[in-house]
Amino acid sequence: MKETSVLCLLFLISLLSCTTNQARLTVSPSSSQFFKLDFVSLSCEEDDSSAGWTLRRNTTEGQRTPCGDGWGKPAGSKKSSCNISYMYPLDSGVYWCESREGPISNMVNLTVTGGSVILQSPVLPVMEGDDVTLLCKTKTTPSNLPAAFYKDGSLIRKQPTGHMTIQHVSRSDEGLYKCDISGHGESPSSWITVTGDTLTCLCFCSFQHSQCDDNLMTVFALF
Ligand SMILES: *[C@@H]1O[C@H](CO)[C@@H](O)[C@H](O)[C@H]1NC(C)=O
Ligand SMILES: *[C@@H]1O[C@H](CO)[C@@H](O)[C@H](O)[C@H]1NC(C)=O
Ligand SMILES: *[C@@H]1O[C@H](CO)[C@@H](O)[C@H](O)[C@H]1NC(C)=O
Repeated sequence: MKETSVLCLLFLISLLSCTTNQARLTVSPSSSQFFKLDFVSLSCEEDDSSAGWTLRRNTTEGQRTPCGDGWGKPAGSKKSSCNISYMYPLDSGVYWCESREGPISNMVNLTVTGGSVILQSPVLPVMEGDDVTLLCKTKTTPSNLPAAFYKDGSLIRKQPTGHMTIQHVSRSDEGLYKCDISGHGESPSSWITVTGDTLTCLCFCSFQHSQCDDNLMTVFALF
């Protein structure tokens, strides 16, 4: 019981120290897929701006390329926010924030298509238990055409309005999603990642004393 409390406290402390020297990369509009010539705004939401966070990306064009170095428009001298006015398929890649001392933020995969269909899926990992809405849209028509949704290559649902909601997502919903709209084409594929609900783990931790150790390991594995 005593050890359990200590473990929980340690967990809380590590959770807090995890979040104090961290940045979170946000993408606006919030989507992992874009049409060619779309605008996107990327930003490192930082707890400690003195850490000197820089937005970087890996694409087929280059590795660890900072914002402003051939891509994006930095906000003044700061390279922690960056806008791309017109995206091209070559802007597809992995984006993240990196501090001078080395820690990195969450990573985000962005895909830019020259095609006419995209899947709007959550760009950040989704919490277990949340509802997730996917939207299949075309470049030219209002987004309420019938669409078919696929997970890991298999058809999962056909929806008359191009929206699909997955209720109470669980780990088994994790995978590679795409959609298609008859007569318009297929979207690129994007990963949907599901993470554990840390609050549940914490409560679990304080009530199920005997299982605290195992559960803590799970919690740490999620970070
Ligand atoms: C970016 O590319 C570098 C060099 O290939 C690699 O070491 C690094 O792991 C990549 N980072 C990401 C986030 O993919
Ligand atoms: C980036 O875009 C946002 C939203 O349109 C705008 O508020 C911000 O001023 C822009 N920043 C730069 C550096 O252009
Ligand atoms: C990015 O995409 C690659 C390959 O498609 C995948 O292995 C990786 O898990 C994705 N990363 C994120 C953060 O979604």
